[in-house]
Amino acid sequence: MKIDGSVALVTGANRGLGLAYARELVKRGAAKVYGAARDPAAVTEPGVTPVALDITDPERVAQVAEQCADVSLLVNNAGVMKASNFIGAPNLDAARLEMETNYFGTLSMCRAFAPVLAANGGGAIVNMLSVGSFYTNPFTASYGASKAAAWSLTNGVRLELHHQSTLVVAVHAGFVDTEMAALVAGPKDSPESVAQQAFDAVEAGQVEVLADERTRTVKAQLSRDQELIYPPVQEFWDSAVAGTG
Ligand SMILES: NC(=O)c1ccc[n+]([C@@H]2O[C@H](COP(=O)([O-])OP(=O)(O)OC[C@H]3O[C@@H](n4cnc5c(N)ncnc54)[C@H](OP(=O)(O)O)[C@@H]3O)[C@@H](O)[C@H]2O)c1
Repeated sequence: MKIDGSVALVTGANRGLGLAYARELVKRGAAKVYGAARDPAAVTEPGVTPVALDITDPERVAQVAEQCADVSLLVNNAGVMKASNFIGAPNLDAARLEMETNYFGTLSMCRAFAPVLAANGGGAIVNMLSVGSFYTNPFTASYGASKAAAWSLTNGVRLELHHQSTLVVAVHAGFVDTEMAALVAGPKDSPESVAQQAFDAVEAGQVEVLADERTRTVKAQLSRDQELIYPPVQEFWDSAVAGTG
């Protein structure tokens, strides 16, 4: 689909990747860009219309789908990462929040906007996933589980919305230079690069974006994950636990 002239809604548009998505949409000539955020006053980007939205509030999600009935491109970007693991975490709070936001929030947005997209000719959904959808990093383990669930839902939503010609794009990235990855050293993708790749895919009708070399390598190694992906991860985790990492 063409971005030029489209009407888009981006969740978590107040900062980080969401802001980059909103800005790129304006740049590519979207007729209207709704910038959804828990605090709409934080959406100040020129050309972006603020909308109050917490994606974990199903009533509000339904209201927004009704109010923004002209949307033809939905960008499910909002997400949380609590740097929590499975066994060592003190309780299930982080795992529940991540699943509630990254999986159920995204699912609820897809469900609410599916009829809106159908009424507007099919359109597209972009789901912001992660390299963590593909394998478990023990430093962000429960986050990875929520992104794996969101990957699965992305594939399922694509199958279910094929009949109404909705393009469903999965965007997987490694570390991106935003607040979420602020504590991570080493190479990071720029939010602008991820947004550009995502909308290039929308315009080309492609269903998957692997935004960086690390993400492409991990996806290519999936069929031999226990041999190629997990041994170095295990070694790194063991040395971190032993205090030598
Ligand atoms: N940064 C990375 O390394 C990286 C890598 C791969 C994928 N991702 C994914 O990219 C997406 C954007 O993350 P980011 O890097 O831009 O992180 P970020 O700077 O922490 O931004 C997260 C955004 O999500 C919003 N959000 C969180 N919970 C929400 C909720 N319940 N309802 C509505 N909005 C909510 C936040 O709003 P508030 O300002 O109100 O908190 C904020 O706008 C996420 O899905 C993340 O998992 C990030």
